Amino acid sequence: MKKTDRAISVKGLYKSYQDKSVLTDVNFEVERGTVYSLLGSNGAGKTTTTKMLTTLLRPDVGELRVSGHDVIREPEKVREVISLTGQFASVDESLTGRENLLLIGKLNHIAGPKERADELLAYFNLTDSANRFVSTYSGGMKRKLDIAMSLVNRPEMIFLDEPTTGLDPQSRHSMWKIIRELKDSGVTIFLTTQYLEEAEQLADKIGILDKGSILVEGTARELKNMLPQGVAEFTFADEEDFARACRLVSEFETMETQEENKLTIYTDGTANMLSQLFQKFASNGGGIKEFTQKQPTLEDVFLTLIGEKEGIKNEETC
Ligand SMILES: Nc1ncnc2c1ncn2[C@@H]1O[C@H](COP(=O)(O)OP(=O)(O)OP(=O)(O)O)[C@@H](O)[C@H]1O
Ligand SMILES: [Mg+2]
Repeated sequence: MKKTDRAISVKGLYKSYQDKSVLTDVNFEVERGTVYSLLGSNGAGKTTTTKMLTTLLRPDVGELRVSGHDVIREPEKVREVISLTGQFASVDESLTGRENLLLIGKLNHIAGPKERADELLAYFNLTDSANRFVSTYSGGMKRKLDIAMSLVNRPEMIFLDEPTTGLDPQSRHSMWKIIRELKDSGVTIFLTTQYLEEAEQLADKIGILDKGSILVEGTARELKNMLPQGVAEFTFADEEDFARACRLVSEFETMETQEENKLTIYTDGTANMLSQLFQKFASNGGGIKEFTQKQPTLEDVFLTLIGEKEGIKNEETC
């Protein structure tokens, strides 16, 4: 198999559970040595996609290749090069951390299972807790051990299904560091997440999975460039000022916000456009309590795209 082959290639993937259709025509590719993040809300089909790529579930229709191997015709070859860390930790709580790693090493017949276990314990900062039962570990420690277990046989590709869901911010950041280091060591990473920030921090490419297909795909920058360059946020002193301001900006593109009396307007990022807005408000009673200007975030992209798809109109803001 040529090393130039894509790490992952998914073409025309369909999957239903009984009569419930979950994926309809999913297509994407992942380059070797990169991080691809599949982003989607609860029930979007992230775990379903991950399970099919890791040979745990059969697609209904579609061609899925992992490291050049067809997941249906050559599942053993696929399993040789990948590892999966599932959405729910698969550590054995009645064993110690070291025993869990040794067990995987022995089951996989790797050379030097003890040395590999010690190496991974040290790498994941778990040496001090290595001989404790996993039932005494924190959620973050269990997640780390879970990933350590998936690295025992040095896979060239790892699948991480929501690796940071439920972790505190500190453990999340330490997980991000580990994922970056894995990527630097040449491993291809397929990562699912519900967190836009996580995809933005880690992924070379992001695919947003919604209603059974990839709604949009690109780098974080490309996705952000789908929106205007600036996002201006005006908070007004009271409802009356807010309502008046809303009437003044009907020709601008605005976005729905949950915060009271806050008007979010997409701009072209220029001072000229901002000054026009300020003048408009000032000459009509003003009432601006707070103003901020920011770059569009992935969350803005996500909300806008999903909103567009569901037919939510921007005019509903005011
Ligand atoms: N074994 C199953 N039988 C029937 N329906 C299922 C099964 N597994 C998943 N589903 C349904 O398929 C859809 C996609 O589920 P999936 O677990 O892939 O979503 P997800 O994106 O991983 O969600 P989450 O973020 O909650 O983990 C959901 O509506 C789910 O209820
Ligand atoms: Mg899931």
